[in-house]
Amino acid sequence: MTLVHPGLQNRPVYLDYNATTPVDPRVVEAMVPYLADGFGNPSSVHLYGAEPKAALECARTQVAALIGAEAAEVVFVGSGSEADNLAVRGAVLAVGYDLPQVVTQVTEHPAVLEACQALARLHGVEVTYLPVDRDGLVSPAALAAALTERTALVSIMAANNETGVLQPISELARITRASGALFHCDAAQAVGKVPLDIEELDVDLLTVVGHKMYAPKGIAALYVRAGVDLEPLVYGGGQEGGLRAGTENVALAAALGAAAELAAQELAAGAHLRIAEQRDRLHNRLAESLPGRVRLNGPLHGRLPNTLNISIDGIMGRDLLTAVPGIAASTGSACHSGDSTPSPVLRAMGLDDARGLGAVRLSLGRWTTPADLDLAAEQLITVARSA
Ligand SMILES: Cc1ncc(COP(=O)(O)O)c(C=O)c1O
Repeated sequence: MTLVHPGLQNRPVYLDYNATTPVDPRVVEAMVPYLADGFGNPSSVHLYGAEPKAALECARTQVAALIGAEAAEVVFVGSGSEADNLAVRGAVLAVGYDLPQVVTQVTEHPAVLEACQALARLHGVEVTYLPVDRDGLVSPAALAAALTERTALVSIMAANNETGVLQPISELARITRASGALFHCDAAQAVGKVPLDIEELDVDLLTVVGHKMYAPKGIAALYVRAGVDLEPLVYGGGQEGGLRAGTENVALAAALGAAAELAAQELAAGAHLRIAEQRDRLHNRLAESLPGRVRLNGPLHGRLPNTLNISIDGIMGRDLLTAVPGIAASTGSACHSGDSTPSPVLRAMGLDDARGLGAVRLSLGRWTTPADLDLAAEQLITVARSA
């Protein structure tokens, strides 16, 4: 791995890896051939199609290997939002019940929440939103109580993008599947950050997102368990097993494949454990230097190793980040940064508005160094002390 990423040199310390990750130079290398000589259409039966076709299938195998799936169960799509929409709308529309119900929870990403709302608006689907507790967790008992014989799908994220809290997916999926409904997990933030295996999780559908794991934006994958029936969002030439028509973007698929292979290597080498240590050192330093003022949003244990969401008493998150020019971080999810209302995720956890407006999300990644975190801590402490 290169020690310094070219996109991070001589710029503010990047602590916004949950918004998007820098593209790994090794991933760029893997995609370049398919932007140049390997331009052919992977569906062509002549020589020009053979190389891109092989690259596409290699990428499918690499993504499948990272999550413990079969290559045939991986469908390439254009974004995490598309993967979520294909899972939620595709599963519910394929089920054929008269009045299907879908169960989700209040702190899901808008890609899931809006897909559910569209199903309600356009198809009369009943949507049940489970609450979360102060740690941001869904209760398995509440899920069990919400299921009916009309439940087509349950969609619960693996890790929250703002707090990093990890939901008890295998337990929630087991309860769901025992009832006969399908289980979708938006694992956009979890894949590559923590070890994850679809057989252990016991899910039917799982979202994987390239730009959260060092591949470019505009590529994602949906794991679809063999035998699960989905209605496509895009109809056409039958690519991707008929689930996503359109000539495949081979370069981006190759990038996601390479990123998946690198993620597997990094996890095997314990990179996530080292990131958690760095994150905890930053948290402890802030807490010691600002006694009684640093509040952790979300649980101490059972969260993504790279995510620190804190509120510092006496200063709004937005003011803090504006006053600290040396750090690039966000006050909430990327979609809400710049907003002056508290994050709906923190509100749903029962945190008051002062705490919600105080929140800053510091998310670390592959190129975060101890020196970066020293500088970040110094600047945050100086500004918070003068507030
Ligand atoms: C949990 C979660 N789901 C879905 C998405 C959507 O991914 P994309 O931006 O590729 O549409 C994101 C990205 O912010 C996310 O954090």
